[in-house]
Amino acid sequence: MSQLVLENISKIYGKEKDNQVVALHDVCFTIDQGEFVVILGESGAGKSTLLNILGGMDFASSGQYVVDDVDVTSLNQKKLGVFRREKIGFVFQFYNLMPNLTALENVKIAQSIVKDGLDALEVLDSVGLKERANNFPSQLSGGEQQRVAIARAIVKNPSLLLCDEPTGALDSKTGVLILKLLYDFSRSANKTVIIVTHNSKISELADRLIRIADGKIVLNEKRDHKVEFDSVVW
Ligand SMILES: Nc1ncnc2c1ncn2[C@@H]1O[C@H](COP(=O)(O)OP(=O)(O)O)[C@@H](O)[C@H]1O
Ligand SMILES: [Mg+2]
Repeated sequence: MSQLVLENISKIYGKEKDNQVVALHDVCFTIDQGEFVVILGESGAGKSTLLNILGGMDFASSGQYVVDDVDVTSLNQKKLGVFRREKIGFVFQFYNLMPNLTALENVKIAQSIVKDGLDALEVLDSVGLKERANNFPSQLSGGEQQRVAIARAIVKNPSLLLCDEPTGALDSKTGVLILKLLYDFSRSANKTVIIVTHNSKISELADRLIRIADGKIVLNEKRDHKVEFDSVVW
C-alpha cells in the first residue's frame, strides 16, 4: 500500500539569526493511501508551510519526505515539477482561477498537463456545475468558484489532493457541500485527501486527525467513525 511519510521535517524561514522563524519543528507522521485527513491548527501554526512542502512547492530545511518510496526531498527541480504535475492536486483558499477563462476552460487547462486526466466536463458535472461551464469566475458565487477549483484539482486524477482552508471563504452550508465533494473523491477512487484548517468542526469528518501548534505535531489519531455531514455546522 502506498504511503506518505514525513520524518523530522523542519522549516526555518530567514537567513539571519535574529529574524529566523521556525515554522515547522521535527514534524513526523505517516498517512496511508485513501485516508481523509484533517490537519487542524490556529493561524500561524505552520499549516500552509506544511501543505506547500507536501505539494512540492517549497523545500524543508531538514528532514525527509517520502511518497510511494520516492524521497521527494532529494528530487531536483525538474523531477519535482513532474511530481507536482502528476501526483498532486492543490485547492487554494482563494480559488486562484484564471479570470479570463470560463469554468470549463479552467478545468481543461489542468487536464491538458497530465497524461491520464479525467474528462473535464464530466468532472465539472460531478461538482454540480455542468450548467455553468461557460461562465467566467466573476459570474460565479464563492462556493461555485471553489467547486471549479476543486474540479480543476480532481481532473488531473491526482493520488494526493491537498486543500488549504478549502472552506475558509464559505458559509457553513456551502462549506459542508465542498467537504462532501472532497470526501466522495477520496472514497470513490481511494485517493488521499489532506485538508488543513483552523475550523475544529471539520475535524469531525476525518479518518485521521492531526493537530499542529507552533510548528509541532501535538496530536495524531486515526478515527473510526460514521461521517454525518448534516451534523457539521459552523
Ligand atoms: N515566507 C515566509 N517568510 C518568513 N516567515 C514566514 C513565511 N511564511 C510563513 N512564515 C511564518 O511561519 C509561520 C507559519 O506560517 P503559515 O505556515 O503560513 O501558518 P498557517 O498557514 O498555519 O497560518 C508564521 O509565523 C508565519 O509568519
Ligand atoms: Mg495558512
